[in-house]
Amino acid sequence: MEQRRILVAVTGGIAAYKIPELIRILRRAGACVRCAMTPAAQEFVSPLVLQTLTGHPVRTDLFDASQEGEIDHISLADWAELVILAPATANTLAKMSCGLADDLVSAVLLATRAPVLVAPAMNVNMWEHPATRSNMETLRQRGIRAIGPEVGELACGWEGAGRMSQPEAIAAEAGLLLGSRDLAGEVVLVSAGGTREPIDRVRFLGNRSSGKMGFAVAAEAALRGADVVLVAGPTPLATPAGVRRVDVQTALEMRDALLAEFERATITVMAAAVADFRAARPSELKIKKEDLAADSGLTLELTRNPDILAELCARKGDRLVIGFAAESHDLMASAQRKIARKGCDLLVANNISSETSGFDTDDNAVVFVWPDGQVEELPTLPKRDVAAQLLDRVAKARGGDE
Ligand SMILES: Cc1cc2nc3c(=O)[nH]c(=O)nc-3n(C[C@H](O)[C@H](O)[C@H](O)COP(=O)(O)O)c2cc1C
Repeated sequence: MEQRRILVAVTGGIAAYKIPELIRILRRAGACVRCAMTPAAQEFVSPLVLQTLTGHPVRTDLFDASQEGEIDHISLADWAELVILAPATANTLAKMSCGLADDLVSAVLLATRAPVLVAPAMNVNMWEHPATRSNMETLRQRGIRAIGPEVGELACGWEGAGRMSQPEAIAAEAGLLLGSRDLAGEVVLVSAGGTREPIDRVRFLGNRSSGKMGFAVAAEAALRGADVVLVAGPTPLATPAGVRRVDVQTALEMRDALLAEFERATITVMAAAVADFRAARPSELKIKKEDLAADSGLTLELTRNPDILAELCARKGDRLVIGFAAESHDLMASAQRKIARKGCDLLVANNISSETSGFDTDDNAVVFVWPDGQVEELPTLPKRDVAAQLLDRVAKARGGDE
C-alpha cells in the first residue's frame, strides 16, 4: 500500500470505535490516509483522534468554508485511489443507493471515481430489512465492493448478522482492490496451525499452535498481490481475503495437501506446527477404561511422521522454501543446526519461551536465520508485522521491490 491514497469515510455506527485501528493498519502498510466523517459519526469517535492518526485534518462539514479552503469535497473525491466506507450505516447506504449528496460523506461518495469498499455494520433487523437488502443489491450491481457484515453478538444486544468486519480484514480487502504488489505473479503456499493425530475415535494428540502466524503470512502475501494457497490445520480463524484455503487434520493430510500444491508454488512458507509423531495404531472405536484392567494404565506407541519441510526442500529446485522453528531454549544454535539439516532458504526461529510470543499469542519474537550463517533478530512485533518483514525479505530474494 506504499503511498496509496485511501479515504476512510466514517458514518454513525457504534463500530466507528474500530476505525482508529483500521487507520493504524493502513498507515503501517504505507498508505496515505485521509478521513471524512458524517455528523453522526462524530458522536462515536472524535475527529481529533482520526486527525492525529492520519496526520491530516479530518473533513466533517460540506459547508464549512475553512474546511473547503483546505481541500474541497470534489478534490477529496478525486484525491482518493480508494474510498473505504466504514462503518457503513443503513442510512448512508440508502443515500448512496439513491444518489443523495446532502452531507460531506455522501457528496464525496457520489463524486468519486475511485473504487468504493463498504463495511456495513448495524442491528440485524436493520441489515435484514428489505430496504437495506435492496440498497445493497443496487450498490453491488454498480460495482461497489462490500465486506461483511459478520455474524455474532451485536452491540445492541441482538445476535445475528450486523457486526462490522475486523479492521485487518477490511485492510486486506482494500489491498486487493488497490491492485498489484511486489508479490504479484508469485504463487505462495503457506501452511498454518497445528495438526491433530488421532488416538481413537474421540481423542487426539495436538499442540498449542493457533495458526495466527501462518494466517498472517497468507493475508499479507495476498495483500501484496500473490496467488495464495493456505493449508490449515484445525483453527477457528477466518480465511483471509483473497486466499484459497485447504483444511486438513493430520500431518499426513497436511503432507498430501502441500505436495499437491507445491509444484505450482514459487514460494512456500511452512509455518504449521506439524506433529513429529502419531499414534502407531489409532483405535477405530473409543478406548474405554472399563475395557482395561482396573489398575492398568495405557501405553501408546508412537510412530514418526514424515519430515514435510525436508521433503519439500529436497525437491524445491529454484523455488523458495521458508521454514519455521519453534524453540524454547538454545534458539540460535538449534535454528542454525535445523537450517543446515533441512536445506531451506530461510528459517524463522520462533522464541516460544515467553508468554507474549510464540504459540497462540498475537505477537512474535523471531530471528531470521540464513543458510550462510547470517542472523537477523527482530524485536517482538504483532504477527502481521512479522509476516510483512518476512515477505519483504522474500520479495527481495525473488528480485521484486523490497
Ligand atoms: C448508540 C447508537 C448506535 C447506532 N449504531 C448504528 C449502527 O451500528 N448502524 C447503523 O446503521 N446505524 C446506527 N445508529 C443510527 C445512526 O446513527 C443513524 O441512522 C444516523 O442517522 C446515521 O447517520 P449517518 O449515516 O449520516 O452517519 C446508531 C444510533 C445510536 C444512537
